[in-house]
Formats: sequence, structure tokens, C-alpha cells
Amino acid sequence: MRLLLVGDIVGNPGRRAVGEMLEALRSRYDLQFVIVNGENSAGGFGITKTVAKALFDAGADVITLGNHAWAKRDSWDYIANEPRILRPANYPHGVIGRGWGVFDAADGSRVAVVNLLGRIFMNALDCPFRASDSILAELSEQPHAVVIDFHAEATSEKIALGYYLDGRTSAVIGTHTHIQTSDERVLPGGTAYLTDVGMTGVVESVLGLDPQEAIKRFLTQMPGKIKPAEGDTTLQGVIIDIDCDTRRARGIQRISVRCVDEF
Ligand code: FE2
Repeated sequence: MRLLLVGDIVGNPGRRAVGEMLEALRSRYDLQFVIVNGENSAGGFGITKTVAKALFDAGADVITLGNHAWAKRDSWDYIANEPRILRPANYPHGVIGRGWGVFDAADGSRVAVVNLLGRIFMNALDCPFRASDSILAELSEQPHAVVIDFHAEATSEKIALGYYLDGRTSAVIGTHTHIQTSDERVLPGGTAYLTDVGMTGVVESVLGLDPQEAIKRFLTQMPGKIKPAEGDTTLQGVIIDIDCDTRRARGIQRISVRCVDEF
């Protein structure tokens, strides 16, 4: 089974890239399942019901979130009631929504997807390592694949979780920094790993946002306007091949597609 995880979709340009490219990527790579990180998909921060619906219509099977999960208050009810949207699983017990789920892929296999948030340079939630232990223990059925979207800042925390879950999950993929790293590999126990999958949004930008606004914030130390950049877009993601009999990854390939160049 082959799946794609799309890196943090930033604002309207990021959504446009997904809308224009996802279907073509599905057939080009024969993808059976698509996870997208949508935590920056509405204006750069958070997600709304309308935006989430557009991402599902574009071909996403599951939307994962992160530290901006709650940025749009109007969408809280929707996040609480839409099983295909995952907020970090290590929020304290009782928080609305869900942090993981088991879903059907196009080839009939069952894929468990887990969203976790790091704790270094971020809000300190419950321990993501222990949270993943409890989720793996809770899985009542044995899915064919288990994929973790680890939304975290520190590379050390991300790599450590990769090794912690090596052999117990099919993939541990980092999101959040919006800069794609080049350390993709299958760890010794069979877990596909990448520190950060990158971003889907405007190429000439500061993490998807308008460079001039970002520069102004650094120069003045004042809160500035959060404005997605405008221009040509890229879709960055990672494709993972999974052996459904063993749940181990057979291979991992990162992609970075320029919308104008290739489509
Ligand atoms: Fe984030």
C-alpha cells in the first residue's frame, strides 16, 4: 500500500496547490491513501469547516492538525464532530475532538493515523512518547499501517520519537517547521522516518507567509499581520510504501512539486 502525507498547507495558495495537484499525484504515484496537515490552511492559522471540506473534496482522506488546531473558534464544533479531522492526541484528557483514528484506504487496507504535538519550544501537552504507547495499546484491531504525524519544533525530539516507535509503527513523519529535511530513511526496525515533510504554499515566502510582513515583525518586535504570501506554489510531501502483512515500511520518498513547473 502506498500513501502520501502532504506537508502543512498554508492559506488559500496552499489549498489551491492541493486542489490543482492532488488528483494528478494520486494517479501518478498510484496512491491509496492521502493525509494532509491542515493546521495552517485557513488564512495561515487554523482550519475552518469550509476549508476542511475543500481539502476533503480535493482528495484528502484525513486532515491532521497541530499547535494551531484551535485558532478558529467557529470550527471547534466541526473538529469535535468530524472523525476525519485529527487534533494532537496528547492534549489532556477530556479535550474535544480526537487525536487518532483508523481509516479505509482505497485498496481496502486499514490505516491508523495518529497526530501528536512535540513539547520542546511548544505548549507542554502530555508526553507524546507515552501517548503513543497508550494509543498503540488501545488499537482494538490490527491495522495494516500505523502512521504518526509528529507536529514538533525540535529535530531531536522528532528523531527520538522515530527510534522510540521503530518497529511498532509504519511511519513517523515530522510536520510543523515548513522546511523539508533530507533525512528520509527506513529505520532498522522498519519504520519510515522524515524529520520534516515541508510545506504546501507559496515558494517565495517565509514559511508560507508574506516576507515583508515577516521582516517587519522581526525589525519591530511587534505583532504583525498574518498574511499568506502570493505567487507560485509548491506541494511538499512524503510517499511511503507499506507492506500490509508486516506493517513495516518498504520505502520512503519525499516529493517537492512546483505547481507551475510540472502541472
Ligand atoms: Fe504548527
